[in-house]
Amino acid sequence: MAARELITEPYAVFGHPISHSLSPRIHNLFAKQTGQSNMTYTAIDVPGQCFDQALTKFYQQGGKGLNCTVPLKELAFKRADHLSERARRCGAVNTLVFREDGQIDADNTDGIGLLRDLTHNLKIQINKQKLLILGAGGATRGILESLLTEQPEQIVIANRTVSKATKLAELFSDLGEVTGCGYDDLKAQRFDIVVNATAASLHGQLPPLPDTLLAEDACCYDLAYSVQPTPFVSWGNQYGAAVSTDGIGMLVEQAAEAFLIWRGIRPETMPLINDSRLKQG
Ligand SMILES: NC(=O)c1ccc[n+]([C@@H]2O[C@H](COP(=O)([O-])OP(=O)(O)OC[C@H]3O[C@@H](n4cnc5c(N)ncnc54)[C@H](OP(=O)(O)O)[C@@H]3O)[C@@H](O)[C@H]2O)c1
Repeated sequence: MAARELITEPYAVFGHPISHSLSPRIHNLFAKQTGQSNMTYTAIDVPGQCFDQALTKFYQQGGKGLNCTVPLKELAFKRADHLSERARRCGAVNTLVFREDGQIDADNTDGIGLLRDLTHNLKIQINKQKLLILGAGGATRGILESLLTEQPEQIVIANRTVSKATKLAELFSDLGEVTGCGYDDLKAQRFDIVVNATAASLHGQLPPLPDTLLAEDACCYDLAYSVQPTPFVSWGNQYGAAVSTDGIGMLVEQAAEAFLIWRGIRPETMPLINDSRLKQG
């Protein structure tokens, strides 16, 4: 009897640029770990103007699901037929699932990914704590709802462009105590958890932070990650944070959530997070 042919189920990450993406490595390791040998996962460079066409082509070629990263998360949101509750408020999605009839389900797993890394992996308590988020871009929008579900005492969003911080705070104010401000307003304040969601680390920069920002035993968490400590992780260590870490854990956890949505099984994340070779690509 002829061996039954294995039908491959393709997944991919779309983005532009995409060559730096760690997602193929992460998902291929998840697939191996969970015995999903019929799953493939590749990175495909898709500029914004080619998104619709590339999406249709991927589906017609048998594509089962997609991750979308910069600059496509908002376009993917618009293209989705069915949005999860958390994705609706984010205005951006990173995980798509193709239904049999071609309709697209969409979710945003960034917030749950950060929350899981903070609370489950790092054992950081968010409930009743004072949180500061630096930056008011897409990443902040994606993590606010998940952080607010833990009922922190307050969340302050500080941003270079102050109006973006106050607008975002208003958008989520029904879920808890959230305010927006500029960096100058941080001088007399102390925070238990500071999350850097700016793009500053990507350019080797640090937002202008007062030296007295951290409460005792504070946690500093940079959404960005790199082989060497990011400027913000170094800043946290310098000013006495009990934990100062980058966002590799969030990256792996948001991928695990996407994998769960696609394959119905949650992979082990700690072996990847603890493997320093992952960041080296
Ligand atoms: N670990 C993960 O899984 C994960 C997931 C998502 C995102 N991220 C990371 O999160 C970061 C933000 O991504 P994003 O999508 O939110 O970007 P974005 O939408 O472009 O927003 C960038 C934000 O950074 C601020 N900013 C940029 N350069 C700055 C500087 N030199 N000093 C102070 N503020 C600066 C901007 O302020 P203005 O509004 O004033 O311009 C804006 O608030 C990136 O590093 C990204 O790689 C990580």
